Amino acid sequence: MGENVQTRIKNLLAKKTVGSLVQVAGWIRTRRDTGGFSFLEVNDGSCLANIQVIADGSLANYEAEIRKLSAGCSVMVEGTLQASPAKGQDVEILAAEVVVVGWADPEHYPLQKKRHSFEFLREISHLRPRTNALGAVARVRSRMSYAVHTFFQERGFCQVHTPIITTSDCEGAGEMFQLTAMETSLKGEEAGPQDFFGRKAGLTVSGQLQAEVYALALGNVYTFGPTFRAENSNTSRHLAEFWMIEPEMAFCDLRGNMRIAEDLLKYLLNDVITHCPDDMDLFDRFIEKGLLAKLRGVMEQDFAHITYTEAVDRLLQAQKKFEFQVRWGVDLQSEHERYLTEEVFLRPLIVTDYPATIKPFYMRVNDDGRTVAAMDILVPGIGEIIGGSQREERLDVLTARMATAGINTADYAWYLDLRRYGTVPHAGFGLGFERLIQFVSGMANIRETIPFPRTPGFAPC
Ligand code: 4AD
Ligand code: MG
Repeated sequence: MGENVQTRIKNLLAKKTVGSLVQVAGWIRTRRDTGGFSFLEVNDGSCLANIQVIADGSLANYEAEIRKLSAGCSVMVEGTLQASPAKGQDVEILAAEVVVVGWADPEHYPLQKKRHSFEFLREISHLRPRTNALGAVARVRSRMSYAVHTFFQERGFCQVHTPIITTSDCEGAGEMFQLTAMETSLKGEEAGPQDFFGRKAGLTVSGQLQAEVYALALGNVYTFGPTFRAENSNTSRHLAEFWMIEPEMAFCDLRGNMRIAEDLLKYLLNDVITHCPDDMDLFDRFIEKGLLAKLRGVMEQDFAHITYTEAVDRLLQAQKKFEFQVRWGVDLQSEHERYLTEEVFLRPLIVTDYPATIKPFYMRVNDDGRTVAAMDILVPGIGEIIGGSQREERLDVLTARMATAGINTADYAWYLDLRRYGTVPHAGFGLGFERLIQFVSGMANIRETIPFPRTPGFAPC
């Protein structure tokens, strides 16, 4: 069966070897009967297109099985590829044999021919990849993951597998899921000493601190893995489990960091437009009209640059009412970020040099003593897609910042050692993979960009 199942509709269509014997294995999308034969639309998941199979009434199982096929049934078909007279397809298969592999009771199969809402599809996340839109997202996600590795590997970056279980909170925002192996009512610091690792442990919020360890040994590294945040944000841009791409570069400053980030984003957009044309076309037509033009525009222009201080000035001058009033020293809200990138600059925008007080302890303090060498990249429709910085490489400055932030330096002795022994300027950033997929697919909600979304109160399978 192996080879048959591997037969891909895409290859069939590409080769267009009319007259040859072909096999296809997939799921029925629709069946239509006319005068003694049936048209079966079969999709094998390799691409958006279905292939039309013509099943003649003379087939042995025509009445008993083929005429009972409905959406969701799995079949294996063998037949002759022939030119199709129908609109919208070059070829079809004249079946010599249709083997029904698995039935799907039409009374209960939840995916009907009509369009379903994304909210409804989330409730059946085990079936939603069988829809056009979610299938397209899955293929685009796979391609983009591949392209991330290609980008870094071609540039000599070494991939580091940073831990998922960690005892250090990188962002220091108290959003770590705690891990325990105990049946206990003890929580937090109390439980730590008696627990599995002998101290408080949790799921990582970022691989950055460990990536820094490897950058200060191997030069240019990246990590690409799942991260977890227990923040109670029920928004269209937040997940409790998401994937992050985090490069870390030794002997690199904020400028170099921004250059790599811009190159990476443009490379990824170009790659997906080139390699997933049908899926991208679907998004452009049905999910976000004008998506492809928007993405091409991003690829062709230089990103805009602005400091946080300038951004605050712009926002204060804006003729727009914001829900949250901005002032120097408070973090930008999503509405501010989107206003700047969508209405002022109309392209991706890199905001740099945020106040030290609103950014994590590891960011490098600027000469003014009150801002840090941070950068956030904002894109239209999403807001923040990348967050990064140059890292504080000076032991005394770092220790002082940790003290201010109330961080116990003893817990981070290993991190401080990197500054004690052969410290170098270094920088890196985190690109949220799902926000990236959201940007390239035009999906309104980030929950459509990951196979099994996890959000507060939601983790069905
Ligand atoms: O800005 P963040 O929190 O930065 C870090 O974690 C750094 N340690 C990265 C680094 O410098 N190596 O997160 C980085 C990016 C955000 O810009 C956003 O795209 C994404 O991760 N992100 C989320 N995506 C989905 N759901 C969430 N809850 C997210 N939180 C952050
Ligand atoms: Mg951020």
